[in-house]
Amino acid sequence: MRTSGFIGAALLLATLAGCKSQGDANDIRGADYAAEEGNLTFMEDVPADQLPPDTLALPMKEIMAHVFQFSGEGIWKWQGYINDEKGERSLFPKNDEEWEQAESAGLTLAELTNVLLLPGRRVDDPRWAKAVADVRAIALRAAKAAENKDEEAFFNAGGELDTACESCHLAFAPWSAKPHTLQAAGKAMPAPPK
Ligand code: HEC
Repeated sequence: MRTSGFIGAALLLATLAGCKSQGDANDIRGADYAAEEGNLTFMEDVPADQLPPDTLALPMKEIMAHVFQFSGEGIWKWQGYINDEKGERSLFPKNDEEWEQAESAGLTLAELTNVLLLPGRRVDDPRWAKAVADVRAIALRAAKAAENKDEEAFFNAGGELDTACESCHLAFAPWSAKPHTLQAAGKAMPAPPK
């Protein structure tokens, strides 16, 4: 798997080198990642400076604060029970439409993880790739649980998601390591308050 990915990437790089001689950066961008079978492996093997910098719209801090946190909250906001000034209530989706939104949030986050693998963002360290793969797998699990309207599985995926986000922060951005969910912050509970 690893080997074939490497050969695939080597072939692609050879192609990219050919494109470069025509002096058109768009050819590099158009490398058709979506159609590329070993997408993840391909990305891992492309040197970190291979994409032109204008491909990346936002710095990491902005991506995290505005895109990943926002996306994670699309899942976490539907989870657990809280007791606040409005009284005790469940946060779980209550009808088909809300479960659909929760499912969409999971699928959105799963796809979003790919932006962390783009050359220029990715850190060449196996812990980075693993954290990305974990976030993606858990986001897909959350989507599946929402599709099945399975509160417990959905809630558990939310907790695992927080841990997966944190595993990357602990390794690469310890200054950002803090709970990102209501549950982790102790504000929401898995079961109704007694
Ligand atoms: C593969 C690594 C990685 C993963 C996975 C990851 N992050 Fe981050 N995150 C970072 C890095 C690096 C920073 C530090 C950015 C900086 O300060 O420049 C960060 C910072 C943050 C911050 C602080 C931003 C600020 O304003 O300082 C938040 C919030 C955040 N991440 C949320 C999340 C959430 C939510 C998830 C999971 C859904 C997640 N992150 C997954 C790498 C990751």
